[in-house]
Amino acid sequence: MTATTSPAPGSRRARIAARTLRTDRWWTGPLLTALGLAAFVVYATARVFQQDHYWVAEHHYLTPFYSPCVSASCEPGSAVFGTLPWEFPWFLPYALVSLPFLLLFRFTCYYYRKAYYRSVWQAPTACAVREPHRSYSGETRLPLLGQNLHRYFFYAAVLISLLNTYDAAVSFAHGAEGGFGIGLGNLVLLANVVLLWCYTLSCHSCRHVMGGRLRSFGGRPVRYWLWTRVSRLNTRHMLFAWTTLATLTLTDLYVLLLSSGTIADPRLFN
Ligand code: FES
Repeated sequence: MTATTSPAPGSRRARIAARTLRTDRWWTGPLLTALGLAAFVVYATARVFQQDHYWVAEHHYLTPFYSPCVSASCEPGSAVFGTLPWEFPWFLPYALVSLPFLLLFRFTCYYYRKAYYRSVWQAPTACAVREPHRSYSGETRLPLLGQNLHRYFFYAAVLISLLNTYDAAVSFAHGAEGGFGIGLGNLVLLANVVLLWCYTLSCHSCRHVMGGRLRSFGGRPVRYWLWTRVSRLNTRHMLFAWTTLATLTLTDLYVLLLSSGTIADPRLFN
């Protein structure tokens, strides 16, 4: 039986005559990936446009989905960097200056590209599985050519991670009786921001910033040290990509439940 044929002229993909040559449950990975991404997109979209329950004034907990809050209708105290002079309509997120860049940073991430190319766009679906698409132009044409902008979104993500770090740090200065305090919410925000840094610094573009465009690390001990550290993180980039989707969701959910009065924040100190 001839299962495969040579690549079509002009194509670099092998043609598989059979629907698949696989006998294992190869579809489990793409299916779970698609479900995981869809769940996050649905939750995050609903929350971003809710424009409510994003801020716990008592302890200065701000969900990362609304940081920095820049609408004139942001709740008092939540806009630590000030606001624009307009109240936003429902279809504009309060974190208008950061969310588009965060979205583009994730969307163009090398790992997420692999994930949604395979599980959503089916190009390719999996090894030895026939592709539904007749042609393949990769990232050589628009709109996928724009994926190359990822290196610039990385710098925006660093700035936004600094904002999230500030949000987490400043919440420690708002204990139940004023002054320094630690509640479960502080730990949730802190864990989220640490993992966000792990995801951001493990980015392939960050690795290139540290060690790229060099013929040799000779005489550059600092860059070599940074590059080896980032390279170690980089081996776990997929793990951080998924973990941070989970921690972003859980952090936001925790703030939502506190802000809506559904639960109270357990205090460990003050
Ligand atoms: Fe994933 Fe840069 S490669 S964030």
